[in-house]
Amino acid sequence: MKKRIVLYKRLSDALLARLHQHVEVTYVDTTGKDGLARLRDALPGAHGLLGASLRLDHSLLDLAPQLQVVSSVSVGVDNYDIAELTRRGVLLTNTPDVLTETTADTGFALILASARRVVELANWVRDGHWQANLGPSHFGCDVHGKTLGIVGMGRIGEALARRGAAGFGMRVLYHSSRPKPEVDARHGAQYRSLDALLSEADFVCLTVPLSSSTEELIGARELALMKPEAILVNIARGRVVNERALIDALREQRIRAAGLDVFVQEPLPVDSPLLHLANVVATPHIGSATQETREAMARCAVENLLSALAGQRPANLVNEQAWGNGQPNNTIAT
Ligand code: DGY
Repeated sequence: MKKRIVLYKRLSDALLARLHQHVEVTYVDTTGKDGLARLRDALPGAHGLLGASLRLDHSLLDLAPQLQVVSSVSVGVDNYDIAELTRRGVLLTNTPDVLTETTADTGFALILASARRVVELANWVRDGHWQANLGPSHFGCDVHGKTLGIVGMGRIGEALARRGAAGFGMRVLYHSSRPKPEVDARHGAQYRSLDALLSEADFVCLTVPLSSSTEELIGARELALMKPEAILVNIARGRVVNERALIDALREQRIRAAGLDVFVQEPLPVDSPLLHLANVVATPHIGSATQETREAMARCAVENLLSALAGQRPANLVNEQAWGNGQPNNTIAT
């Protein structure tokens, strides 16, 4: 008998067909006020879950005692209680690699948009203000030749470093849990303490995963270390920054600008002060959001799920320990 999975993300026809070959699929639309109730109804008997952006708390997990795998269509796994999934012997998988370059592109889009005031000035033109030549009050700042400070030197951090060094002739500094001589050699990057990076960089770009050690990594003290002409770019998670402190720093122009793709609360509330600051470019968590990359992520998630349910170690297993906790229990033919 086929195993049953709950799908809470829309997939392309090709990927749906691939799933249907091997598992029984229940699709749940988790949006809207009844979304959670629909998910609760679907969970009993589920062997696998596939989707993204869902906080799976204990009460939801309790409804799916046969659960073997949660396949997340994301690289970030901060939504999940990994220890609890591991304790229950549930595999958690994610979709690294396939989104690296696209997310780095988003980082650079925000660097360029913030530095050259692209969104602000495009809106200014649209609103009919372009009546004469521009003056210094409309000028932005250069990106090429400046110092790029990358906080978090994983795959996405390195893809940013490559763009900065090779594409824009930037000096690249980075901070991460340890110096990475291979990255230094590839991109001429230099390791710095966080404080030193903050005080030297013209662009501070955050790419760290959210964890207890990175939550509010950038607060009032850290923002005060940044140069007044520096720009903060966040493509990591909103909670890596103390948003209140950032709003104050931007409002008082203690830093030049911010390019933000992620927020403490998403969707960003329409009354957020961030939306009323001219020196903020806010995008709706589009880090990996291209057609090609989202399809590649979904494909990766489908393969992770099918491997796990077939008793094979999935390619992108997050909680190695769960594999040792008695997985796989049951297998299907793929
Ligand atoms: C990821 O994959 O983690 C992206 O931020 C989308 O959530």
